Amino acid sequence: KKRIVSGVQPTGSVHLGNYLGAIKNWVSLQNTYETLFFIVDLHAITLPYEAQQLAIATRTTAAIYLACGVDTSKASVFVQSHVRAHAELMWLLSSATPIGWLNKMIQFKEKSRKAGDENVGAALLTYPVLMASDILLYQSDLVPVGEDQKQHLEMTRDLAERVNYLYGGRKWKKLGGRGGAIFKVPEPLIPPAGARVMSLTDGLSKMSKSAPSEQSRINLLDPKDVIVNKIKRCKTDSFPGLEFDNPERPECNNLLSVYQIITGKTKEEVTQECRDMNWGTFKPLLTDALIHHLHPIQVRYKEIISDSAYLDKVLVEGAAKASSIADATLNNVYQAMGFLRR
Ligand code: AQP
Repeated sequence: KKRIVSGVQPTGSVHLGNYLGAIKNWVSLQNTYETLFFIVDLHAITLPYEAQQLAIATRTTAAIYLACGVDTSKASVFVQSHVRAHAELMWLLSSATPIGWLNKMIQFKEKSRKAGDENVGAALLTYPVLMASDILLYQSDLVPVGEDQKQHLEMTRDLAERVNYLYGGRKWKKLGGRGGAIFKVPEPLIPPAGARVMSLTDGLSKMSKSAPSEQSRINLLDPKDVIVNKIKRCKTDSFPGLEFDNPERPECNNLLSVYQIITGKTKEEVTQECRDMNWGTFKPLLTDALIHHLHPIQVRYKEIISDSAYLDKVLVEGAAKASSIADATLNNVYQAMGFLRR
């Protein structure tokens, strides 16, 4: 089986974008691939954060994975910092990462500009090296990536090739390039179309945890009345009817896409159903579909989060499974890089 890794940061609340763009797809992927899903807590400290919230958000995020249908009999679920190899490999990889590669990263430029100089730690710059170690440690074949992570995955691939070239020796050369050697070179797995969820207050920016306005996103754990209010107040337009793919109507396209994915209907069906509707008819329909879809997830979430022994067990077992793969890769890298082993 091909192997897939992916994760969500435990910063703020998991929202509809994280769910439709990532977690919901994992639930299908776990049936076909060997999957490892982790809560990327080490990445969550790359911007200023609240230390007393980190552990809570980590547990919440893990419980959300399970509530959404990630199944521990198929997938390994664990916390990134519980597998020490992530941080260790990052150090080794950072020695092979030209700083120019990091300086070119668009996300670094954008996030550092927004955060202001005094809030930009070295970890924000080296973040893609940690992401590379998250992926390469598991010899992953495929990595699900949204638009904003494509450049980081490209760097991961370059880094894998570079380490293979620098330290893979004859074994690597005999293989004649890609694949094998120290690291497998991972491929991107592009998520299904329409899986990029946009903000409720601006159809041109993505729904995001870090946007200051709560009104801009639906959180997975939002109670019913909050969802009702957010959809009631979300940005719309005054064109007649509703349609997909009109560049002048990004909000309309976004809300129809969400409705489509959440109801499991085809684009054609939604086009037919909604073309003559106005917002006053469509909004309650979308609200009901969201509440209907999220309710069972919220019920399961409550059960899981209140059973801490169960959640702890899942995370301990997940970390043990992940460590056995990660440690083998890490040892191999230490050896290839010439370290004296114990
Ligand atoms: N709006 C979105 N639509 C579709 N997918 C999305 N993802 C995030 N936002 C959307 C996907 O969720 C996964 C986890 O993302 P992350 O925790 O690494 O955070 P992020 O990508 O930086 O996005 P967030 O959650 O909104 O946080 P901020 O505010 O920091 O940008 C990824 O697979 C991502 O593609």
